[in-house]
Amino acid sequence: MISAFAPGKCILFGEHAVVFGHPAVAVAVDHGVTVSVSESKDWVLEGKPFLKDRHPHISHILENVFQYDGTPLCIDIESSLFSAAGMGSSAALSNALAAAIQCHLKPDEPLDGIKLARIAHSAEASAQKGRASPTDTATSALGGCIVVSDTQVDGTRHIFDTELDTPEGKRHWSVSAVDIPEDLEQSWLVIGYTGEGSSTGSMVAKVADLVSKNPEKMGDLESIGKITKAGLTALSAGNLEALGMAMDACHHKLQSLEVSSNKLDMLVLAARPHSLGAKLTGAGGGGCMVALTTDPKRTSEAIEVAGGIPMISKLGSEGVRIT
Ligand code: PMV
Repeated sequence: MISAFAPGKCILFGEHAVVFGHPAVAVAVDHGVTVSVSESKDWVLEGKPFLKDRHPHISHILENVFQYDGTPLCIDIESSLFSAAGMGSSAALSNALAAAIQCHLKPDEPLDGIKLARIAHSAEASAQKGRASPTDTATSALGGCIVVSDTQVDGTRHIFDTELDTPEGKRHWSVSAVDIPEDLEQSWLVIGYTGEGSSTGSMVAKVADLVSKNPEKMGDLESIGKITKAGLTALSAGNLEALGMAMDACHHKLQSLEVSSNKLDMLVLAARPHSLGAKLTGAGGGGCMVALTTDPKRTSEAIEVAGGIPMISKLGSEGVRIT
């Protein structure tokens, strides 16, 4: 049996603004998805017959990417991520599956993070009618801190460029990394799940509608772009206080874009006295918030008391790997 683990992600800065061409910054978290594959008499997924039409990510990777025609496989999936909560669970699943299949077919070939990031991005695109940013897939494949933007952001290390034919035309992204300095090793992220689902598609549509009816809201997106760059500078310099302040400022702008919710605001407010900064993360409307803290136990307790489900992670975990 071969098992591969791929981490989930958390967006630190730039959600929604990235749709309008600004950069997004995401970090890999300690939690993720493990996929195990073993040869079997029949195709089995999670103990049941594998129905490929129901699992577009898995069928795309097996058929279109690897053109798999070997012995049937028994595939098991274990996730420690909150699902439908903006933690990148489908990207982690695609990365872990692609790594496990590659290792099954070519056990001596080392994993190539960029190749896996591209495979997982193609799986997301095929499952989402051609619309998928490479943020989740690249962060899960490569680990650490990843910046996705139309053009490379100053101070980041370029990793690869990628493009996709979307129903709205060709899109191009530059994917870069930021090395997380040692000073940040004493800090933690506490992700707080509201328990409420979040639909990325409808939140993106909501912002598009808000901006078209209130053109001045474009200013909030531009402010998020500036906050993201300030946050990246703070991150690279290991300046925890400035990083936390940028997260607070980002939440304020996301509130102005009407993508926060009462529960998200409650968890952010509960976490702040015990954190360096806190904000919603991802599409908003539900899903999760994230706090940066040097006292993860205290921050988790505050989030729990306010009705959230906390999850502690270091900042920028390792990317996809065979376990
Ligand atoms: O739902 P999430 O956490 O993957 O966040 C989506 C981020 C958005 O900027 C809102 C949408 C996007 O495609 O980048």
